Amino acid sequence: PYPYYAELRQQDPVHRLEGEDVFLVTQHADCERVLAEPEVYSNKAGPGLRQSELMGTAKAPEDSPYRVVRTLLTNDPPSHTRYRKLVAKAFSARRVAAMEPKIRALADELIDTFPADGKLDFVRDFARPLPLTVIADFLGVPRSDLGIFRKWSDDAAEVLGGTLTPERSKECHDSLQELLGYFDQRLAERRLQPSEDFLGLLLDARVGGERPLTTEEMLSISYVTLVAGNETTVNLLSSMMLLLLRNPDQLARVRADHSKIPVAVEEALRMEAPVQGSMRRAKQDTELAGRHIPEGSRVLIVSGSANRDPEVFADADRFDVDRTNPRSHLSFGKGIHFCLGAALSRLEGTVALEHLLARLDSIEVDPDFVPSYQDNAVLRSLRSLPVHVRKES
Ligand code: HEM
Repeated sequence: PYPYYAELRQQDPVHRLEGEDVFLVTQHADCERVLAEPEVYSNKAGPGLRQSELMGTAKAPEDSPYRVVRTLLTNDPPSHTRYRKLVAKAFSARRVAAMEPKIRALADELIDTFPADGKLDFVRDFARPLPLTVIADFLGVPRSDLGIFRKWSDDAAEVLGGTLTPERSKECHDSLQELLGYFDQRLAERRLQPSEDFLGLLLDARVGGERPLTTEEMLSISYVTLVAGNETTVNLLSSMMLLLLRNPDQLARVRADHSKIPVAVEEALRMEAPVQGSMRRAKQDTELAGRHIPEGSRVLIVSGSANRDPEVFADADRFDVDRTNPRSHLSFGKGIHFCLGAALSRLEGTVALEHLLARLDSIEVDPDFVPSYQDNAVLRSLRSLPVHVRKES
C-alpha cells in the first residue's frame, strides 16, 4: 500500500473514496489533528473498512445472552473517559512489569521448540503463540484453558473481519458467546474469592462515588482487550522479523548493540503499522486541510501513511535503528484512545528480540520468499515467514 499512500500524501492528502462517504487522511499532521479532536471526530464510526463492532454482515443474533457494549475503542467522552479511569489499574505499569518474567520464559519455551539447524515458520511457531499466551495470562486465563481460548479468540476476531458465510457467521457468534460465558464464570469465581488479576481489578474498580462496572461492561472490556491485543502484536513480531531479515546491515547493528533493540521495535511499528488505520465519524460539518467534510462522513486516519510522512521522518522508507525520533509514529494512536496495551506490546517486542538474538546464531529468510498478507483492509497480517535458523551450540 505504501506507494499508493505516498501518492495520496502528495496529491490528495484528504482523499474521498470513490462512491463512498469515506475520506482517507494520509499526512501525519492531519492524522494528529483528527486524533486530537474527539468532539468533532467520533469513535462511534460504525461498520465499514473496519467492522468495528458486531455489525454489518456478522450481526449478533437477537437472542444472544451476552452483548458487547461500547466501552473503550468504539466509544466517546464522557462515557469513554469514565471507562478509561475504571480500567486504569487493570492496565497499570506495575501489572505490565509483572508480565516480564513470564514473557521471557515463554519466549525461551518457544525457541526451545525450534530445530537446532533447520526450517520453521516464524509466524506460526513464534509470532502467533507468544501474544496469545501473554494476553491469556494478562486476562487471567490459565494455561490449561489455552487450547479452547485460542479457538474462541480466532473466531471472535473473524467476527470483525467482515464477509462471512451465514454458517461461519453463526459458528463465530456461538464462539463469541462461549468466550463471554467463560469470562462470566471466571467473574463469578472472583466474586467469591477476590483476586488481583484483570477481572478481579475490574470487579473492584471505582471512580468517586459512581456505580461499579456491570457484568456486561466487564465482559465487553475483556473481549475488546483480547481482540485489540492479540492479532496486533502477532503482526508486530512478524513484521519486525521480516524487516530485520530484509535489512541485514541493521540486523547486524542490533546484534552488536542490544541497546538498539527498542528502536528496532519502534521502527517495525512505524514501517508496518499493525493497525493501518482507525475510523472516525464526523459529528458535524468540518474542514480538514482545506477540504470540506460533511457531517456523518467517515474519516480513516491512515497511520500506515502518517508513519512514512517525510515531513516527520527523514528517509522515511528506510528501516533505521539509529533514528532519532522513533516514537513519533501513530501506530498506537494518540490522545484519548491511545492504546492501553502499548507498554505490554513494546515489552513483548523487546523481550522477543532479545531472546531470539541471544539464542540464534543465525536466522535467514527463504530466498524465494514473497510476503503475502491476509485479506484485511486494516490489519497488516503477514500470513507466514519461512526462515532457516541455527541455534547456539
Ligand atoms: C487502542 C494499536 C496492542 C489494548 C488502540 C489504538 C491503536 C492500537 C491504533 C487506538 C485506536 C483508535 O484510536 O481508534 C495497537 C497495536 C498493538 C496493540 C499496534 C500491538 C503492536 C494492544 C494490547 C492491548 C491493547 C497488547 C491489551 C493488552 C487496547 C485497548 C484500546 C487500544 C483496550 C482501546 C483504548 C481506548 O479506546 O481508549 N490500540 N494495540 N492493544 N488498544 Fe491497542
